[in-house]
Amino acid sequence: MKELIVFEDVVKEYGTKESKQIAVNHVNFTIEEGEFVVVLGQSGAGKSTVLNMLGGMDQPTSGSIRINGAEISRLNDNQMSNYRAENIGFIFQFYNLLPSLTAYENVALTREIVKDVIDPLELLEAVGLKEHRNKFPSQLSGGEQQRVSIARALSKNPKIILGDEPTGALDAETGVAVLELLQKMCKERKKTVIIVTHNAAFAQCADKVIRMRSGKIREITLNESPVPVSEVNW
Ligand SMILES: Nc1ncnc2c1ncn2[C@@H]1O[C@H](COP(=O)(O)OP(=O)(O)OP(=O)(O)O)[C@@H](O)[C@H]1O
Ligand SMILES: [Mg+2]
Repeated sequence: MKELIVFEDVVKEYGTKESKQIAVNHVNFTIEEGEFVVVLGQSGAGKSTVLNMLGGMDQPTSGSIRINGAEISRLNDNQMSNYRAENIGFIFQFYNLLPSLTAYENVALTREIVKDVIDPLELLEAVGLKEHRNKFPSQLSGGEQQRVSIARALSKNPKIILGDEPTGALDAETGVAVLELLQKMCKERKKTVIIVTHNAAFAQCADKVIRMRSGKIREITLNESPVPVSEVNW
């Protein structure tokens, strides 16, 4: 497989010189195209910081982040915006849907940002919500809202899908269904999917597991034969 993402000696510091907080401390890893990656680690380990830098929502203090060979860590605001629009689909823990728009409209909204979008209906069907397309977020369950937000993230047809605890606000069963969908998108649509989770049980489903602690990489493991989410005995 082709190397898609390279983090090289990446550092992210917050605060002032006097009270410096090192959120990400000389981190190195690579992710290949089409990989399903799970990032694990305790609260404060630096997981979200890594994901936000990867998604072009934050920039490192030092080090190099390359996507498809292109350095993204030194882009200006405009270039960052283009990078996000063209490459990244982001799934949030609390869905971030617009309450006054229907499921369909929330997914179709991406048209405002990118030209070549996937048909919102096709995506709502893929996440099992075609019948619910005219409902507002308040009329949908948590799992359904998260599936709308996955459809929205996919609608730009991004190379990379990032999820920061995408199952964090869901009950166990619904969380598994959402994860199953993400694994399916990864395998069937050849997306590179990277999710942060607190649920270590998800590790067996990933191609690659990145374990973080105190801003550093503790361990990176490769699964020779990852388990399909649907076959895990939760
Ligand atoms: N904007 C910020 N300003 C200052 N410190 C920050 C900021 N963002 C993160 N940090 C600090 O950096 C460290 C790593 O934070 P991060 O959010 O990446 O952790 P996390 O692994 O995602 O934790 P959690 O599992 O709780 O979400 C924490 O100590 C946090 O307080
Ligand atoms: Mg976090």
